[in-house]
Amino acid sequence: LLKDRIAQTKTTLLAHNQAHLLAFINTLTETEITALLDQIEGFNFTLIDNLIAQYIKSDVTFEMPSAIDPAPAFPLDPDSQYQGQYDAATRVGEQMIRKNQVAAFTVAGGAGTRLNYPGPKGNVPATPIQEKTLFQLFAEGIDAVQQQYQCTIVWYIMTSESNHDETIASFEKENYFGLKKENVICFPQGMMPCFAADGKILLDQKGVVSVSPDGHGGSLRALYTSGAVQDMKARGIEVLSYFQIDNPIVMPIDPRFIGLHANAKAGMSSKAVIKVDPLEKVGNFTVVDDKITVIEYSDLPDEVAKEKDKDGNYQFMLGSIAIHLINRTFIEEINKGQFSLPWHKAIKSVPFIDSTGKRVTPEHPNAVKLESFVFDALPMSDTSIILSIDRNEEFAPIKNATGVDSRESSKQLQINRAAKWLTACGVTVATKENGDADCIIEIAPHFAHNLATLKSKTLKFTNIAAGESVYLG
Ligand code: UD1
Repeated sequence: LLKDRIAQTKTTLLAHNQAHLLAFINTLTETEITALLDQIEGFNFTLIDNLIAQYIKSDVTFEMPSAIDPAPAFPLDPDSQYQGQYDAATRVGEQMIRKNQVAAFTVAGGAGTRLNYPGPKGNVPATPIQEKTLFQLFAEGIDAVQQQYQCTIVWYIMTSESNHDETIASFEKENYFGLKKENVICFPQGMMPCFAADGKILLDQKGVVSVSPDGHGGSLRALYTSGAVQDMKARGIEVLSYFQIDNPIVMPIDPRFIGLHANAKAGMSSKAVIKVDPLEKVGNFTVVDDKITVIEYSDLPDEVAKEKDKDGNYQFMLGSIAIHLINRTFIEEINKGQFSLPWHKAIKSVPFIDSTGKRVTPEHPNAVKLESFVFDALPMSDTSIILSIDRNEEFAPIKNATGVDSRESSKQLQINRAAKWLTACGVTVATKENGDADCIIEIAPHFAHNLATLKSKTLKFTNIAAGESVYLG
């Protein structure tokens, strides 16, 4: 039987110019051969051939649309008319949350190579005093919403082959951080083979093909194929609140955003920040063919990014911070319609088995990885809204080991937000000349997950002096 499978796989691989994947089969045990065949049989070689032609062998460049317009957004500072809309939307969002129609969704399948942290990024200690991990922080944030609205918030987490088991183990070890186990659902995303520049798929080991996660855009298929969407349907969940694992101050569930999205009958929506400058390295919200479309900073020519309107203001200042709402029915519809997202190419250093069977760890980028991006699905939604938010309130990413967007910079942003909230509650907080808080503060989501909750608490102090450490938990 195994011989037949090998022969069949060989024929397929020869037809697709990938026969080298079986080059070392004679050195493998039967179990290893079976695992290798399982892996290879899981690939769609017709798709792979197309991808090689379109993305690997050709010098693919982004095709700038012939016309782009600035995207409209609900403003950060509403006038009285917008305020009315916002209040009504908050009530609608709260109603949906109470009815258990909203779930949290975290994409946590990335390799986190920039952070240089072994294991799932959700285990990174993130908070300034307690060093709570990202998983714990989100769990507490989700539970705070459950307590506030006396509801159930199911939490879907997309992992990848390489961190799925470890992610589950982390939750098991910590007893799901107080959440109910049946309400935390982890599922792995799809994997894509890694390619050499000539289109040959790389071997990671003699019996293992080199693969990497297929990008956060893969979540839209993985939610469907893993059964998560069916689970949502069975539980009556209508909307997923999508956020990345790397942002400790994200609002896992935001009633106002949910209400604005629902009132607009949108399929997929986004939060945006005003970029610090036109060239800030975040995705840009634009309108292309009447559809909200994100153009990555690397694809938007500088001169377009710097275009001004008739009043002299930069036109394309709405930046994506990877926070979305996605309807269950939107995911169902695109999957029934055999959707495909464009692929984005990343050139990386990937260890491989060379033709002599030696494992090589290259010093320079040698491989092409293909990823799809979730925001590329926005134009598939008939309606889509954007809500402008304050980056100091909702964006403190941990991406790099040091410097910009590191744990250190994120902690300072977390402290600054806590200081701002406490100041709004009448506390005097020591501040440095550059505006940063001159003390260490951590507010646990269980204590207060937003300013309104903090305001309802009786605080036992009115002052935080320079160098002081205050944990509200
Ligand atoms: C991303 C956005 C950028 C946005 C920024 C905000 C892209 C291409 N860019 O940048 O527009 O301004 O976040 O912080 O997305 N992930 C998976 N599976 C994968 C790949 C990634 O689950 O296969 C998850 C990661 O675990 C992480 C998130 O997606 O939670 C972000 O991935 P990353 O590739 O690091 O995006 P950024 O470059 O940070």
